Amino acid sequence: MAAETLTIIDNRTGKKYEIPVRDGAINASDLRQIRVSEEDFGLMSYDPAFMNTASCQSKISYIDGDRGILRYRGYPIEQLAEKSSYLETAYLILYGELPTKAQLDDWSYNVTHHSILHENIKKFIDGFHHDAHPMGMLVSAVGALSTFYTDAKHIFDAESRKKQTYRLIAKMPTLAGFAYRHSIGMPYSYPDNDLSYTGNFLNMLFKMTEIKYKPNPVIEKAFDVLFILHADHEQNCSTSAMRGVGSSHVDPYCAVAAAAAALYGPLHGGANEAVLRMLMEIGSKSKVPEFIKAVKEGHGKLMGFGHRVYKNYDPRAKIIKQIADSVFEVTGRNPLLDIALELERIALEDDYFIKRKLYPNVDFYSGLIYQSIGLAMDMFPVLFAIPRTSGWVAQWEEMLLDSEQKIARPRQIYKGAAKRDYVPITARK
Ligand code: COA
Repeated sequence: MAAETLTIIDNRTGKKYEIPVRDGAINASDLRQIRVSEEDFGLMSYDPAFMNTASCQSKISYIDGDRGILRYRGYPIEQLAEKSSYLETAYLILYGELPTKAQLDDWSYNVTHHSILHENIKKFIDGFHHDAHPMGMLVSAVGALSTFYTDAKHIFDAESRKKQTYRLIAKMPTLAGFAYRHSIGMPYSYPDNDLSYTGNFLNMLFKMTEIKYKPNPVIEKAFDVLFILHADHEQNCSTSAMRGVGSSHVDPYCAVAAAAAALYGPLHGGANEAVLRMLMEIGSKSKVPEFIKAVKEGHGKLMGFGHRVYKNYDPRAKIIKQIADSVFEVTGRNPLLDIALELERIALEDDYFIKRKLYPNVDFYSGLIYQSIGLAMDMFPVLFAIPRTSGWVAQWEEMLLDSEQKIARPRQIYKGAAKRDYVPITARK
């Protein structure tokens, strides 16, 4: 049997090294023995944007980008979307197994009964400017929770972690709801413990003067499935932020604030907004061929197409397309849908997109659904942050309990000036 090693010959010295290969990877620290002299620091690998570097071992999400596969803890996303609920999936992601009936009841009870915010939080949400972006409010408010739950700093106490987990999963929708209501100048709507996780979220967004808010079951279900699809996605930018910031042993509220801040960026949580803007700019189905032609000539990108990992149809996009149909039956058809369908049809038949393996991603249809429900584009990254909190917390805990992990501290290749002496200001040119 072939050895599970890599043989390296350093042509600078003529020396030969044998480095173990485990799980399809070499340990980057093994390269350090490759040196040209005693003083040499040792060979490093240079990998901007972590294009080919695994920073952890994980048991949470599995993605096969070439085959369009996504699994949480081994379960295919399609089965979870069809048969599970968001709270059950969050439990699975956090604790590794599907819950028994008793475990699910207990988990749901605890999440439901941690959804109320301290009244002081309302006061500082009041203090935000009238046109504050809801994602900016969410990032700040979740970080501020750290000052309310000082027990959260005991990150190696399993009981404390469990409690902060309930609080984070439960309070993110409430913070999001309050941020939304503030941004539209409406009074805050408090959580209703009789409703499901997503039913309650809709209540906190849309309740008007009625005594009891009744969520539309189709929209409630659509949100639940969308939440399942967004719950985790291995080591993406925000999850890496969660792990990286959490590796300094800060409390989880501050680490979630950092992760949510990463998600706020247009390259991560903002792509569905970009899709809507693109569809509005195209304006009509008849203009689609002209738009595709311009994209192929290098004028802009087809937003909602392509993915760093998926080189096949994003499995989440397939499910979202089905949900869109059910939502539009309730809300009426989003007029932009016809443009989106035509774009997809033409792009999937076009050599340019086929050759580059560009397929619709999760963001291609989700914005259309949110817009039809009546949500402004500002809210889109917030709707991503709520369900992703379960993934962030699961990844944070996995990192904390992994004996191989330490504070995240990448190396650099220094390209700046060599040593030089300080020049007094009068002598500078
Ligand atoms: N429309 C048109 N062309 C695209 C494209 C798109 N959406 N995405 C990638 N391409 C082209 C690139 O121009 C490049 O072409 P080239 O080989 O002729 O230079 C090729 O496909 C490879 O793209 P690259 O940018 O190297 O892929 P990446 O893995 O770095 O980027 C994305 C992935 C997601 C950033 C990129 O596909 C993109 O910008 N998509 C649109 C934004 C989006 O939907 N983001 C949400 C992601 S969930």
